[in-house]
Amino acid sequence: MTEPSTMLAIDPAAPGGPEVLVPVERPVPTPEPGEVLVRVRAAGVNRPDVLQRMGLYPMPPNAPTIMGLEIAGEIVAVGQGVARPEVGDKVCALLAGGGYAQYAAVPAGQCLPIPQGLSFVEAASLPETYFTVWSNLFERAFATEGDTVLVHGGTSGIGVTAILLAKAFGLRVIVTCGSDEKCAAARALGADVAINYNAGDFAELAREANGGRGVDVVLDMVGGDYVPKNIALLADEGRHVSIAFQRGPRADLDLSQVMRKRLILSGSMLRPRTVAYKSALADSLVRDVWPLFAQGKLRAIIDSTFPLADAAEAHRRMEAGEHVGKIVLEVP
Ligand SMILES: NC(=O)c1ccc[n+]([C@@H]2O[C@H](COP(=O)([O-])OP(=O)(O)OC[C@H]3O[C@@H](n4cnc5c(N)ncnc54)[C@H](OP(=O)(O)O)[C@@H]3O)[C@@H](O)[C@H]2O)c1
Repeated sequence: MTEPSTMLAIDPAAPGGPEVLVPVERPVPTPEPGEVLVRVRAAGVNRPDVLQRMGLYPMPPNAPTIMGLEIAGEIVAVGQGVARPEVGDKVCALLAGGGYAQYAAVPAGQCLPIPQGLSFVEAASLPETYFTVWSNLFERAFATEGDTVLVHGGTSGIGVTAILLAKAFGLRVIVTCGSDEKCAAARALGADVAINYNAGDFAELAREANGGRGVDVVLDMVGGDYVPKNIALLADEGRHVSIAFQRGPRADLDLSQVMRKRLILSGSMLRPRTVAYKSALADSLVRDVWPLFAQGKLRAIIDSTFPLADAAEAHRRMEAGEHVGKIVLEVP
């Protein structure tokens, strides 16, 4: 291996505000058996990174303390037993941590080819939200063509991916957003209906927009007082999938509605899942989803880019909550 022994990385010494995100020198990781070493060119920023920085994210055991859950770059070395991908391949990858850095060691199975025509920045914006939305919308909520899905946070990283995936697979998609501007952006991305939750009761507006009928699936990142409203809005046989709880982890649940409408309540957290699970998910994305980029049905939605050294600014942008789509770090 001809790579340097040290690299720049964002590895905060203690939790805190965005100012803790300063570049520091760290050893270049050595790929373990089954891993590859990627020269990182771009790293996606996700809300869980902000929670981690604040010390509010339950870190899976053995996850690197260097921040960052997704990257794109070029493979420069492979660990024992790795036949694919190979040195020289350009990939994007899902990580349990370690993405805000010049090099990252990643399980080979969590690497995906860069979809045709996408830049490193665009490719780095994909893994975290595509793994999350694909598994929750289609595996846990088994959304099928013709279903109506409600997605909260329509212009979030998760939300824009959910809109594009839902439309690519024949779903009707209703989203909620916090402003008229964000609603317009969500509609421009393909949302059938976008509701400004500050302009009225989202559940009433969603039912009205759906011809008086409830929705088949709710992909919920809000939790708290949204949950009873989501449950009331679900149609018979509806599915409710929790992926975050920005308004709190506790909810008042009317079990009679769950029983009467035969609802399914589920949820999941991607980061602590096994390498085997994530690798299987990667295979399914490459087979069923990645070709849709070349067909023009999917694209990366980039809000803004920042140099790695300005990771603090990237987090400030995310915390300001004005972004539409993904914020990405460019790695020197
Ligand atoms: N379970 C998993 O495996 C998993 C994986 C990845 C991400 N996540 C979670 O998914 C969520 C989105 O992640 P992201 O990276 O896409 O974040 P993001 O781009 O920062 O989006 C957060 C969204 O939440 C909305 N929001 C914030 N507070 C709200 C409130 N009180 N009521 C209603 N909506 C609110 C915001 O929309 P408005 O500004 O329009 O209100 C914003 O669009 C995060 O909570 C993250 O932790 C979960």
